Formats: sequence, C-alpha cells, structure tokens
Amino acid sequence: MNQPYAAGIDIDAPSYVQHHGAKEWVARIAALTKPDRIRWCDGSQQEYDRLCDEMVKSGTLKRLNPRLRPNCFLALSDPGDVARTEDRTFICSQQKEDAGPTNNWVEPREMRAALDKLFDGCMRGRTLYVVPFSMGPLGSHIAHIGIELTDSPYVVVSMRLMTRMTKKVWEILGRSGDFVPCVHSVGAPLVPGQKDVAWPCSREHKYIVHYPETREIWSFGSGYGGNALLGKKCFSLRIASVMGRDQGWLAEHMLILGVTPPSGEKIYVSAAFPSACGKTNFAMLIPPAAFKGWKVSTIGEDIAWIKPGKDGRFYAINPESGIFGVAPGTSEKTNPNCMAMIRSNTIFTNVAMTPDGDVWWEGMTDVLPAKLIDWQGREWTPDCGRKAAHPNSRFTVPATQCPSIDPEWENPEGVPISAFVFGGRRSDTVPLVTEAFDWDAGVYIAATMGSETTAAATGKVGVVRRDPMAMIPFVGYNMGDYFSHWLKLGRSVPKRPRIFCVNWFRTDADGKFIWPGFGENMRVLKWIVERCQGKAHGVETPIGRVPEFADVEWSGLEGFDDEKFRRVSSIDGSEWRRELKLQDELLRLLSGRLPRELALRREALERSLG
Ligand code: GTP
Ligand code: SPV
Ligand code: MN
Repeated sequence: MNQPYAAGIDIDAPSYVQHHGAKEWVARIAALTKPDRIRWCDGSQQEYDRLCDEMVKSGTLKRLNPRLRPNCFLALSDPGDVARTEDRTFICSQQKEDAGPTNNWVEPREMRAALDKLFDGCMRGRTLYVVPFSMGPLGSHIAHIGIELTDSPYVVVSMRLMTRMTKKVWEILGRSGDFVPCVHSVGAPLVPGQKDVAWPCSREHKYIVHYPETREIWSFGSGYGGNALLGKKCFSLRIASVMGRDQGWLAEHMLILGVTPPSGEKIYVSAAFPSACGKTNFAMLIPPAAFKGWKVSTIGEDIAWIKPGKDGRFYAINPESGIFGVAPGTSEKTNPNCMAMIRSNTIFTNVAMTPDGDVWWEGMTDVLPAKLIDWQGREWTPDCGRKAAHPNSRFTVPATQCPSIDPEWENPEGVPISAFVFGGRRSDTVPLVTEAFDWDAGVYIAATMGSETTAAATGKVGVVRRDPMAMIPFVGYNMGDYFSHWLKLGRSVPKRPRIFCVNWFRTDADGKFIWPGFGENMRVLKWIVERCQGKAHGVETPIGRVPEFADVEWSGLEGFDDEKFRRVSSIDGSEWRRELKLQDELLRLLSGRLPRELALRREALERSLG
C-alpha cells in the first residue's frame, strides 16, 4: 500500500517496489525538492520513445532525418554546461585527509547544509523521475545497483542507454537490498506559468558531491555527461573506487579489449587513458590489412571493474551498457566501427546539424560542409572562424550497436586480463611504448603519468598535469592510499598482468602527430600481446623495456622508417630528468600517505638515468 511519506506528498510507488527504505528516501527527496509530479521509470522502449517525443515537443531534442539517422536525436546544451566541472566536484569524507590533496573537500555537515538549501524546492514545476539501474550485468557478483532521482528527461533517456535501467532492479533489491542513492537536479525550478528553456541548468551553482562513507551522490546545476549521468563517473569510479578499496577490487578509467592473434589464443587487455585521449578509438580498433588473421573485439571503452578471481588472475567487467563518446575526430578513417555504431538509435549532444538533418563535427569529413547549424544553434559557414561542434560534443549509443562488441561482453564473471596499458597525451618525453620491469615499477609509471588536459573537463586545455592511472578526477579517496591499494592487490594476485605505457601523441616541430595512430596502434598492441606470450623481443632502458625497430611489425605502413620510429620512441636523458622533477610535485603533495615502494622506485629511476 502506498502511503504519503511526507506532508502532501504521495509518491505513488508501483506495487513491484517493495523496498521500504527506498520509498522513504524518494518521499524525503520529493518533500525537499517539491516536484510537480513523480514518475517511476521502468526502462522500457515505450517509455524511452515517449520521453524522446516529449523532448522533441519541448525543444530539448531535435529529431534527425530518419532516412539518414533513424531514431536519432540532437540536443544542444547551454553554452555554460558543456563538460565535467572538476573544480565543482567534491569528495566529502568525514576527514579531509581521506579525500586527500588531489580532491576538493568540504566537511560533510557543511556541505549537507549548503545542498539542503539549494535542493529545497529545486524541482518546482518539473517531474521527478525515479530511475532504477544496475552497473554491470543484472545479478553479476561484480555488479552493483543504483537509483537516480532526477528532474531531467534527457538524463533519463541517457541513463537508459548507458546503464541497465530496468524495473527488474526492484526485484533484485527486494525489501532491503543495497543501492547507491543518487540525487540529481538541473537546478532550475519553474514558477507557475514560466516557460522552460531547451537545456535547463544553473549558471550560478554547480555541485557534484560524493559522500564516500555513506556512498551517496548529490549533483546540482548541470545536465551534462559525467556531471549528471550519475551511474558513470560518480558511481562507477568515485564511489566504486571506495567500495573497491574496502572490498579488494579495482574501479578504473579503462577500456577492455580482446585480441585474437592468428594462432587463436585470445587475450584481454585493459587500458587507461585520460578523458578524450583515445580509449573509445583503441577499444574498437580495426587492424590494418597487413594483419591477416588478427581480430580486436570490444568489452568496454571507458570504465572497468576488476576483481581477483579464484584462479589467481584479474577478471574485468564493463559496468556500463552504452557509450558516451567524443564526436570530434571520429570518422570513417579514424574509427569506422564507431561510425557504423552511431548510424541509428543515437543521441548526439553539441554537434552541428547539416541542412538535410544529419550531424557533422570537426574531423568527420575532409571536405567541410558549405553550411551548418552549429552547436549553439547559429548558422555556420567554413569561413566563419568558429568551431561547428563543441570540442567535447558527444554521442550516446547502446554498446550492442558496436560492430566489434565481444561475445563475452556481458559475461557476469568478467574476462581475464593479461595486460594493463597506461597512456597519456604527451607531445614529448614519453616514448611510443614501454614495458615496466615488474608490478611495482608499473604502478610507479602509472602513478606518475602525465597528460595534456582536454576539453572533456572545463578549464585550460593542453597543459601537462599529473594524471595517475588516468584517475585524477575519479578517485573517491586519498590518492596515496589508492597507490597502496594497487601495490597490495597486485601482490595478492599471482598471475597479475604485465604493465605497459604508451603514447600516441608525440609531435614534430610543426606540432603534427608523428605516429599515425588509430588502426596503426595495432602494431604496438601486437608487440604487447607477444610480450605477454613471451615471444617478442625488447631492450632494457632506464624507464622500462622497449621494442627496437625490428621488433615491430611494419608491413603495410609506407614511409614509417627507422628515423621516424626513433622520433616517437627515443628516450632523452635530460627530458626524463625534467620529467622526474615534475613527478616530484605529485609525490611531494602525497608525501603523507605515499607508499614507500614508490619513493624507492623514484630513487632507483634517478640513479639509472644518471
Ligand atoms: P573519454 O570518453 O573522455 O574518457 O575519452 P576517450 O579516451 O574514450 O577518447 P576518444 O577515444 O573518444 O578520443 C578522443 C580524441 O582523441 C578523438 O578526437 C580522437 O580522434 C583522438 N584520438 C584517438 N585515438 C587517437 C590516436 O591514436 N592518435 C591521435 N592522434 N588521436 C587519437
Ligand atoms: C570523461 O570525461 O572521461 C568521459 C566523459 O568519459 S564524462 O562522462 O562526461 O565524464
Ligand atoms: Mn572517460
């Protein structure tokens, strides 16, 4: 029986919702946020279609040409709400030290008081949607459940693409199961009669807040990506990293791919690159024609949950069920699998629209369209001096549409991982590929990795910052403790993966990428796979083992000679001594909780560089 849980609020929960705690929580949030109505979402196709239709009517979505992009939509955001806002993202642990120096921290009581004020009445004039979802295949022992309460229908349909959003979640939860409560509001209440805008958000207040001890997420003021789809970075990385620390597993900003060599011995590789540094592309790579019999398949392209298995190996699942990928730079040349994937059933955000109702972005075609509507809804011509698509414009699409999706991608047990790869965006210093000497050396390389910032987060683009394990914006606790967790967990897993470091992004004097990248990354992947199989040759350098020119497969790649290889793979002593100084800034920042092994590794590295 439904009961009004708070004065004047009848939450009207469906009979299949048996979880008293969840109902009480919904009632509490409804009493606070004061929506006009509550909708319990079931995750069905009909519900998705209905919400999309409603958003077309309200102007939030445009339906793209059904002949060119069947069942696809375009959303244009507010120009002030285009990417994750790292400076407005908080880890509110009881103790500041537990959030650590790389996270923003506010005392939980103080944050709760501030949020209570902001959330009070913030859903007036809007609908509160109750979104049940599972991160990971339903019922997998690696999966976890969340419920997101949001006042954004765009978030609801995105969550249906990105997570396993279904009313079956309520069955799994039963009367008292565990879930991560996620509260989201665009922070734009409507007074009676006020006309809504296409992309409501708050210009004044943005807060992306995590309480790691109580495993709660509260997000206010933004409707974009990782700020609003709370199953993604907030749950699957920040809260999950804390769960992983406590329970002995890893939540990582990693793609997972399968490689099948001609011999047929398939292996799985997991790779961490910072935001907009090539995970989606690497995860669905198509080997060059010369690689006869080689096959790459996709398990995931952004997040991996990795647990030690009984056989002494790490097993990984992709907790997501969709892809929220960077549009600019995606083309038939760079990522044909991706282009095929986004032909239908896709929501595009902040890309440009062609006169015939298709989409376009920088890098999609060599020839620029003569006329477009840009991501801000303005007329665009090639000479107008503006970008047509926002650099962080994206597509949202079900993973099942990925042509290279691996048959094991929903295996609830996960897939065994043979190699971890870490990569950043570095125009110099870091060579094409290195293999760490051992686990601790690999953790050091990953922990001290640097990368040039991208448009995936608001702020300055193109400056090198330390981005340990590509997780600087995503670890929900003290980074020093996170390093200790990596060291300890690796030691407890006898058949731990080898660790590699890659860099596709070295540039020449004109600022052009020297390495051809994309499908050609297969040449590096092959070396990695064959190192794991104990086949490929490599030579020792102070920073790790590297291939010589003759150790890499070059057939089918014209003009990439010994000299060019040297330019992407050289290790320069003076650059590396400078790199160590830059690494020291992070190590010093974390000194209170930095594991001794990493300090020792740092000393050994300095000695060997001379
Ligand atoms: P997030 O979704 O933000 O976590 O990013 P991601 O790591 O999945 O990045 P994605 O694969 O979407 O790539 C982002 C940008 O990097 C795109 O513009 C790509 O075209 C470009 N890129 C990807 N792979 C390569 C490569 O091998 N070489 C070069 N030069 N650019 C690449
Ligand atoms: C990233 O920034 O790493 C993303 C996009 O994958 S978002 O979901 O917005 O965080
Ligand atoms: Mn990401």
